[in-house]
Amino acid sequence: MRQAAWALAVLGALAVWTPAAAQVGLETPPPTTPGGKRYDQLCASCHGPGGRGAQAPNLVDPVWKYGGGDAAIALSIAKGHAPQMPAFEGVLDAPAIGELVAYLKESSKAVAADANVSAPEIPSLGPPKGIVRSAVADFRVEHVVKVGVPYGFDFLPDGRILITEIAGALRIVDKGRLAPDPVRGAPTGDAASLNTYFKRGLLDVAVHPDAKSNGWVYLGTTRRIAVAGGEPFVQARISRGRIVGDRWLDDRTLLEFPLPQINAMRMAFDKQRRLYLSTPWSDHDYAGTAAAAPSQDLGSPQGKILRMTDDGHYAPDNPFVGRPGAYPYVFSYGHREPLGFAFDADGELWEAENGPRGGDELNHVRAGRNYGWPAITWGHRYDARPIASNPDQPGMEQPVVSWVPSPAVSAVAVYSGKAFPRWKGSLFVGSLKQKTLYRVVVRADRAVLQETILTDVDRIRDVAEGPEGYLYFLTDSGDLFRIVPAK
Ligand code: HEC
Repeated sequence: MRQAAWALAVLGALAVWTPAAAQVGLETPPPTTPGGKRYDQLCASCHGPGGRGAQAPNLVDPVWKYGGGDAAIALSIAKGHAPQMPAFEGVLDAPAIGELVAYLKESSKAVAADANVSAPEIPSLGPPKGIVRSAVADFRVEHVVKVGVPYGFDFLPDGRILITEIAGALRIVDKGRLAPDPVRGAPTGDAASLNTYFKRGLLDVAVHPDAKSNGWVYLGTTRRIAVAGGEPFVQARISRGRIVGDRWLDDRTLLEFPLPQINAMRMAFDKQRRLYLSTPWSDHDYAGTAAAAPSQDLGSPQGKILRMTDDGHYAPDNPFVGRPGAYPYVFSYGHREPLGFAFDADGELWEAENGPRGGDELNHVRAGRNYGWPAITWGHRYDARPIASNPDQPGMEQPVVSWVPSPAVSAVAVYSGKAFPRWKGSLFVGSLKQKTLYRVVVRADRAVLQETILTDVDRIRDVAEGPEGYLYFLTDSGDLFRIVPAK
């Protein structure tokens, strides 16, 4: 992965947005226009990713030595500027040069507008040392274990912790110790086959609420599937198995469906033992109408929360079962990048999703509802124009919280334990880019309080309450931490 390159913009103290930073922060790969691809091949080695400057000057600020009009830029590219800037007229024809100019213009818009809507990626300082005094609880942060780049974790009934590594290993933590070897024979996905930005073979893990008797553990994996004469696609698979000793047994594939480029997925069980899965859909280059987008299409599994029985059948009372053309697994739709969700004590579902630029959301998810993406959002396109002319439309749900700028929210946990009595019922939401853990108190679908419990720690990927009532969180660096009472 490229480093997020930070520099100061010439026009002032604006942090320059790089495609790498944006991808990492907002979980969104770069635009893949023909101009963009050609730029990456021919120009990025000197002018840096996205034209943001390297050993050759940046091509996105408003300052142009040889003129910033389309014709002047095209001339610079065609004729070059001896001795350092090569002439490309022998290599590229006029339309190809035109595409490069268009790409540079798009790229510069993204930089100029970035100050408004996109939070900068802040440095990771690690967890605070000593006692942290928050509004209603004093706590300490303890390090539990370190694993490879992870995705999710869950607890077995005996207190052992399962952690997934995106490269394909399912790890076990037993009494604070990481077992040296991954679970043998567990599904791995195929990270190496993926040509997507996020090479995640193994995604989330969920332990069945009755695992004590049935032993069932659920894993989400992805792989790239080649299609003869067609476009390859990313296929997600939900598998079920049991862990006996250090082995995965009784492996069964429950469901397969295509995922988009951004392969992300969360899983959680409700009290009725139904498994919920979140699937993303976001596409920069999507040119169709909002109504025709996959996230709005009930026939597509993407941009949805799906619901199945613990055997992998769609839940019979799912809201669109029997509707012609609908994918019967759909529980709710119109989601963008739902990276986390959790149930509260009343069985209500709370979900956090990434907006485009601005417009990260916390949603109260109900069966059959439309959460609006991309028809409505409070976020912006990557060129900073608002996406939705009317972000509040009838028949579509409003978020309980809309974050602008986007912290890149990730996982959600609802606290129910005894270790922090005054946190009972609070929602804890992690964030990637802001490296923050928020506590949100919701009453009657309104966030009446939002407290930053931790900040600048690291990119928080997953959050869950442990059996002792401690709050655990997992970072993209592979550190599992837990929040324990101060005394
Ligand atoms: C070998 C390194 C190198 C490569 C490859 C290269 N450039 Fe350049 N480019 C430069 C340098 C150095 C300058 C500054 C020249 C100067 O100031 O006289 C420059 C200047 C420019 C300028 C003029 C900027 C201004 O301020 O007016 C444009 C436009 C430009 N390059 C576009 C491109 C594009 C598009 C590509 C790819 C097709 C590309 N360059 C490939 C090194 C490179």
